[in-house]
Amino acid sequence: MLKVAVIGATGAVGQEFVIGLNKHPWFELVQIASSERSAGKRYIDALRDPNTSLLKWHNKENIPENVREMVLNRVEEINPNKVDLIFTALESEDAKMIEPRMATEVPVISTAAAFRYEDDVPILIPGLNDEHCELLNIQRKNRKWNGFIAPLPNCTTTGMAITLKPLMDEMGLESVFMTSLQALSGAGRSPGVIALDIMDNVIPYIPKEEEKVQVETKKILGKFDGNSIVNASVKVSCTCTRVPVMDGHTETVFAELKKAALPDQVKESMINFSKSVSIRELPSAPQDYIIVHDDPTRPQPRIDREINDGMSTVVGRLRKDTVFKNGIKYVLLTHNEKMGSAKGAILLAELFKSKKII
Ligand SMILES: NC(=O)c1ccc[n+]([C@@H]2O[C@H](COP(=O)([O-])OP(=O)(O)OC[C@H]3O[C@@H](n4cnc5c(N)ncnc54)[C@H](OP(=O)(O)O)[C@@H]3O)[C@@H](O)[C@H]2O)c1
Repeated sequence: MLKVAVIGATGAVGQEFVIGLNKHPWFELVQIASSERSAGKRYIDALRDPNTSLLKWHNKENIPENVREMVLNRVEEINPNKVDLIFTALESEDAKMIEPRMATEVPVISTAAAFRYEDDVPILIPGLNDEHCELLNIQRKNRKWNGFIAPLPNCTTTGMAITLKPLMDEMGLESVFMTSLQALSGAGRSPGVIALDIMDNVIPYIPKEEEKVQVETKKILGKFDGNSIVNASVKVSCTCTRVPVMDGHTETVFAELKKAALPDQVKESMINFSKSVSIRELPSAPQDYIIVHDDPTRPQPRIDREINDGMSTVVGRLRKDTVFKNGIKYVLLTHNEKMGSAKGAILLAELFKSKKII
């Protein structure tokens, strides 16, 4: 068993880490930490809102018994020499300060944006760009660290990149336009989205989100040339909106292919990719990496987000665009807190273990 710590364990993503690591066959959660506000408290007490007494636990599954009573550490109390791996679920500004301190001693898998755009840092989606893991060795050497920082993408990038990969490999990609309808949990727990702002409403702007998706997609789909990642040449443009859905980001995608393809060929390439994906034997891997529906009323967040415990990317409405040359359109659903963050990070850790990177 490898010993792991979670920093930011009380937040929206942190809570998913606690669930995803519960009774994990390879990883044992031995330390948890969050801000000064919570340090020194039992996990269950730190989750209780001091003003309303509400327990801010957002999962259908109960808090695992062994974690309820665990005392939250200060970040300084996490001893990198006593754990094999640290998962972080911090806002970017906090991550910028905390993650390098940890990475000097131990590998860090991060859900934050803080280091995603640096040249010696890959943005990893397990099963999609495993060869980019090589860049972690270069990062270690550059920074003289025993560990490294391995970030996941923004949760809105994940599902789109997963569905674009087989298209890029088989037909080539010229350009992509995407509009997202993003869930409330994607905004985190504190302060999150205020109910009065979002009930009966759509918010047409999520700060910094569109830039992240546009840059990250090109890096993830890029090629590792032995020294660095050469971005994919596809043009990516998007509009990101927030909708009153609890979990699961829906995205409408238009892709202009280099080579014409019928919707059935696109479907086949997604299914073939899904069947042959490298990570399918790992403990947190979904049975289907991508699911493609013929039913035009799917995917829907309420029905489809929990399929394979939120680890599948669900596609529907796959059709030819009749206006633009070689255009294909589809709708996808990706679970922002499962494959899009905590459980995706655990899957990445499993990939690292299987490749002996940790
Ligand atoms: N929510 C999603 O669906 C999602 C998906 C993908 C990626 N992400 C990214 O994941 C990260 C975490 O997001 P989230 O939604 O979980 O945020 P969140 O709900 O606001 O949680 C933030 C966590 O960070 C802790 N924290 C705050 N300041 C700290 C400090 N100085 N030192 C140590 N811990 C500190 C908080 O502890 P207290 O409880 O003590 O305040 C809390 O546990 C962000 O970078 C976000 O962009 C989120």
